[in-house]
Amino acid sequence: MDLLDRILELKRSKNAVILAHYYQNPEIQDIADFIGDSLELARAAKSSQAETIVFAGVHFMAEGAKILNPEAKVLLPDLRAGCSLSDSCPPHRLQAFRKANPDHFVISYINCSAGVKALSDVICTSSNVLKIVDKSPKNRPILFAPDRNLGAWAIKKTGRTMDLWPGSCMVHETFSERKLIDLKTRYPQAKVIAHPECEPHYLDHADFIGSTSALLNHVTESPELEFIVATEAGILHQMKKRAPNKYFIPAEPNQNCACNECPFMKLNTLDAIAACLETGGPEIHVPALVQKSARNALELMLEWSQ
Ligand code: 13P
Ligand code: SF4
Repeated sequence: MDLLDRILELKRSKNAVILAHYYQNPEIQDIADFIGDSLELARAAKSSQAETIVFAGVHFMAEGAKILNPEAKVLLPDLRAGCSLSDSCPPHRLQAFRKANPDHFVISYINCSAGVKALSDVICTSSNVLKIVDKSPKNRPILFAPDRNLGAWAIKKTGRTMDLWPGSCMVHETFSERKLIDLKTRYPQAKVIAHPECEPHYLDHADFIGSTSALLNHVTESPELEFIVATEAGILHQMKKRAPNKYFIPAEPNQNCACNECPFMKLNTLDAIAACLETGGPEIHVPALVQKSARNALELMLEWSQ
């Protein structure tokens, strides 16, 4: 039996679904039952009736799925699939901040561990961040963790004042402004579209800024034909599928490397997906106390982003 048939057969026999993020390799995106941005994936995980959810993404996403759907068995094909942004905010450091700043209302970007979610008042994603910041209490200081770039963009768009945790995504910080200016000269018709995890000076060049799904919808609906795409390169697969008549130019990293690919996301492979379905592991577990508080913060996000 070939690998794809094996995965299909295992999915059937284990009553499993595969949820995948747009930064996965094309062959994984193509076998997924559901593909989306972080908010859509969280909603899909919560409403899934499957016994097993295979999360083709990174650790914090699989943890989020487990928190929102504790009845399901949640598998992450490769446990090493972490996130530099999530790592920049260990729970003990946020706990120390909370202790020293008890008045702060804490908004955490979903790209954080379950421990950080449990210490947060509300969670946001790149697609609902402006709504969540807008709805946050006006009479309390706010900490936005852990992505300083997304937080700075939200400050600019909402006019709210927030303290920013000094974290960032290693993929989105790698884009070179100098090379972008060069690309714009070479492709004068191209529109620049960027994820808000990019640095503020980089975002200043963007014609459109949004989550992965928002970027995808934008290129599909826009009358423009050429786009310079400043986010992880995996999204180009869906863009080419949905708008085959358009031309997509990946934004270039600082160095001559494939640094616009997330090394964590790319750890997942079809072999690892088949193996985890076969063996039922690695399975994601979240301690009960963490689960309860983290779920409150995630549920508040879902309520506020309706
Ligand atoms: P979104 O798909 O929600 O825009 O998130 C991007 C990201 O960096 C996920 O790691
Ligand atoms: Fe984390 Fe950045 Fe990779 Fe997303 S792209 S998982 S934020 S390191």
